[in-house]
Amino acid sequence: MSLGTHLESEFRRLNLGARAGGADAAAAGAEPPWRRGRLKPTFSSPHLPPPLPPGISRASASIRTKKVCTSSAATDCVAAQIPRSDVITGRDDCNVTDAIHSRMGRGLHRRPGHPLSLIRAAIYEHFDARSGSEGSSFAKFDDLWPVVSAKANFDSVLVPADHVSRGYNDTYYVDADTVLRCHTSAHQAELLTAGERRFLVTGDVYRRDSIDATHYPAFHQMEGVRVFDQSEWGGEGADGTAFCQEELRKELEGLAKHLFGDVEMRWVDAYFPFTEPSMELEIFYQDEWLEVLGCGVMQPAILEAAGVDPATNKAWAFGLGLERLAMVLFGIPDIRLFWSDDERFTKQFSKGAGDKDAWRSLRFSSFSKYPPVFKDVAFWLPPSAEDGAESTFTENNLCEVVRAEGGDLIEEVKLIDEFVNKKTGRTSNCFRVTYRSMERSLTDDEINGIQTRVRERMEAELGVELR
Ligand code: DAH
Repeated sequence: MSLGTHLESEFRRLNLGARAGGADAAAAGAEPPWRRGRLKPTFSSPHLPPPLPPGISRASASIRTKKVCTSSAATDCVAAQIPRSDVITGRDDCNVTDAIHSRMGRGLHRRPGHPLSLIRAAIYEHFDARSGSEGSSFAKFDDLWPVVSAKANFDSVLVPADHVSRGYNDTYYVDADTVLRCHTSAHQAELLTAGERRFLVTGDVYRRDSIDATHYPAFHQMEGVRVFDQSEWGGEGADGTAFCQEELRKELEGLAKHLFGDVEMRWVDAYFPFTEPSMELEIFYQDEWLEVLGCGVMQPAILEAAGVDPATNKAWAFGLGLERLAMVLFGIPDIRLFWSDDERFTKQFSKGAGDKDAWRSLRFSSFSKYPPVFKDVAFWLPPSAEDGAESTFTENNLCEVVRAEGGDLIEEVKLIDEFVNKKTGRTSNCFRVTYRSMERSLTDDEINGIQTRVRERMEAELGVELR
C-alpha cells in the first residue's frame, strides 16, 4: 500500500470525528468510521479494568496544568520526570502500561532539530505572520500536562457519553476520572475559561490502537482556536457562523500552502462533537488526496460553559496530527522513527535546529532497512459470555500485550485470517506479527523468546485458546 493511502486511513482512525455521511459511511454500512476496524468494540478482563459505565462525568479530577519539562535542554526531557506512580496505580481502573509511561515527558515536539519540532515551528511561522499584520498574536502552549480529567478530555468538548473513544479499549485511564489526553482538544475549555481568545496547543496525546507504520500509541497534535466578537463579523444582522467558517477556510488554506506549497486543496464535510459545521481539509500531494486536518465552528455550548457569550462570539477550532504532517512532508516511512535516538535519523534533522528555513528542503533518506521476521499466531476467541459480558479479546488489547513484550521491534500486527467453525460456532483469528528493528538485525532466539512470552500472555490475559 502506498504511503498516501495508508496515511489516509490512519488519519480517519486518529480522528475523534467522522466524515458526515457520503461514500465512506455508505461503504461501511451504518457504522461510523470511528467504529470501524475494530474486531470487538468493548473490553473487559480480569487483569484490566472494565469499560466505564456511561456517565463518566460524575466526578472530575481537577484540570492540572503543569510544566512537563522546565529545562530548555532537550535531552533533559526524560520520562523520569513523570513519576511512574502518577500514572500507573496498580488498581483495576488503571490501564496505563510501562511502555506508555516510558514515552511520557519526552518532549519530542520541543526538541530542537526534531522533525516534530520543525513542523511545529513551521506552523507557528504561519500564524505569527498572520497575527503580525493584525496586531495580535496567538498564544502558544506546548507544555501542558498530558494527564487530564476525563471531564476535560471528553465532556468539556461535548463527546457523547456513549462515544467509543471513552472506553477502556481506546483510552488510557489513570483512574475512572483521569486519562492521558487522547487529543489536544482537551485543553480548549480550560484555556477559553482562562481568558485566551487565540491560541495554539501542541502536545503528546495517547490512544490505545492497532500497530502499523503509521500508528503508535503516543503521538502529537496541535490544536488551534480563535474567537471573534460580533464587531468583527459586522454586528447583529450578519451571519457570524458563516463569517467564522470563511475565516477558518482562509486561515487553513494559507497554512497548507505555507507547508506544502502551491497544492490543490478541497474541503470535505465531516462530523466532530465539538464543531458545527465540521470540515476536513485535503490536499492533492504526490498524486494522492491526503487529509491534513479537522476543523469547524466551535459549538456554542463550549463557549458558554467557558464564560464566553455565544450570542456575541463565534470561534473556529482545528486539530492536526504532527506525525502525519511530518511523515508526508519529510518522507518519513515509519512512525517509530520519531522516537529513535539513532544518529542516522536524528542527524538528518538536527540542522533544522539553527536554520528556520531548513524544514523547507529537508527530506529523509532511508538508511539500510533490516529484514523483518514474521510470526503468526492463531487462536480461538474466548467464547462470548452468556451473561452479556464483553470479550476480553480486542485487537487493541492484543497490541498492548505485543508491545509490552516487543516494544519498538514491532512493526505491524495484522489480522490475516478469520473464520467461524460451523459446528462449534467458535471464531478463529490468525494475526501476523512483524518484527523489524529500525537499527539492527534481529536474531531468531531473541524473537522466539518474545513471541513465546506474547503467546503465554495472550492465553493468560486475553482468554484466547491458542491453536
Ligand atoms: N480532536 C480531533 C481529533 O483528535 C481533531 C479536531 C477536529 C480538533 C476538529 C478540532 C476540531 O479542534 O475542530 O481527531
